[in-house]
Amino acid sequence: MSNSVIVKNKISSFKKEIIVPGDKSISIRWVLFSSLASGTSRATNLLHSEDVIAAINAIKKFGIKVFLNKRICKIYGKGIDGYNFKKNIILDAKNSGTLGRLILGIIINTPFPIKIIGDQSLSKRDFKRIADPLTKFGAKFELNKGKGLPLKIFGAKKLQPIKYLEKKGSAQCKSSVIFAGMKTKGKTFIKAKKSRNHTEILSKHLKLPIKIINKKNFDKISIEKVNKIKPLIYKIPSDISSGSFFIVLCALVKNSELLIKDVNINPSRIGVIKILKKMGVKIKFENKKKYKGENIANIRIKSPKSLKPINCPSSLNAGAIDEFLIIFLVAAKAKGVSYFKNLSELNQKESPRLKWGSKILNLMGVKTITTADSIKIFGNPDLNINKKIIIKNYLKDHRIFMTSVIAALSFGGNWVIHDKFSIKTSFPSFMEIIDFIRK
Ligand code: S3P
Repeated sequence: MSNSVIVKNKISSFKKEIIVPGDKSISIRWVLFSSLASGTSRATNLLHSEDVIAAINAIKKFGIKVFLNKRICKIYGKGIDGYNFKKNIILDAKNSGTLGRLILGIIINTPFPIKIIGDQSLSKRDFKRIADPLTKFGAKFELNKGKGLPLKIFGAKKLQPIKYLEKKGSAQCKSSVIFAGMKTKGKTFIKAKKSRNHTEILSKHLKLPIKIINKKNFDKISIEKVNKIKPLIYKIPSDISSGSFFIVLCALVKNSELLIKDVNINPSRIGVIKILKKMGVKIKFENKKKYKGENIANIRIKSPKSLKPINCPSSLNAGAIDEFLIIFLVAAKAKGVSYFKNLSELNQKESPRLKWGSKILNLMGVKTITTADSIKIFGNPDLNINKKIIIKNYLKDHRIFMTSVIAALSFGGNWVIHDKFSIKTSFPSFMEIIDFIRK
């Protein structure tokens, strides 16, 4: 089967209702928490993607049993110290930074070295950022080229609680340290730049010994040793990061309307909504609910008559960190110059996304000025593409692939987009939803 798609025709205006799959961050966290619980946890709407399956395969290596079918996942946890550590374990985190980094906090007390490997994209990413704080707990690391995967962790028998200042806004580093803190006698203190807080919400819901003080730009978290975790019965809410591709498609296609049902609208994840609203997109949350500490709603989007440029406040960056590629497409159609800054973290993702976002826009005929951490986008409300565009060699980044498909459907042109299978990591049904909207 070919690993590329050809998109030739713009989509015409649509009015649709869709459901997107379960949230990736919450799915992986549910798997990890459940693997440490005492008893059987159950989830419905778990995201069935390669990143989540990699998490399931990782916990299985430690003797945790899992039942998985289309509808339900059951994890038979054996308690906070229930992992069966053995010699020569190799974990394959595949494409998932979340799995690769979070699990290190959990296995920090392994009596045998454990090797972590990943795919070509993950192997290029920075693991020193998490090895450094975990070293302070007492673990030791061997990192490829001093920075990345493959890595080896040498666990510590006696763990020391730490004080950790997380400056990058990385939820993965924060969460990994929270897990390590759960294994460590004493109090671990974290001061973390704002980032998604699903780990904290689940910890609170499970009544673990965690305290959180929310300040404007950072959170103060303390966590103590956990003795027991209750099994977790959970319906994973839909992923706003997956929904965002269609939010933007609706924003870019005149006279369209879309309803996306039961989406996680955790305040730390809705940067994309705040940014798009500032740019003139009509977005409403309907039927808001609280679910086990998370916020859920239906999202209704109406395409606007025109789009405004934005000087994007950096305070919105963390809450939209996975959505900037798709937001850049909206800026490409806005009337004027948009500016996004302090985005060095974007180049730390599955591919250097600031670079690639800019490259896609340039291929589309949109002018950009890009630095190491910012981009200016010169929007054109009449943008209409008539040429051939080929997207390849981008390190198999799922979000680059999906952004390119949305661009092709919104602006026209004859696109050949490589690495279709990259969507398996986060959103295997992406093309099916595209086909449904196109019908
Ligand atoms: C994630 C955190 C973010 C995000 C990633 C998922 C998580 O990464 O980009 O897709 O589930 O914790 P960083 O921690 O590197 O910012």
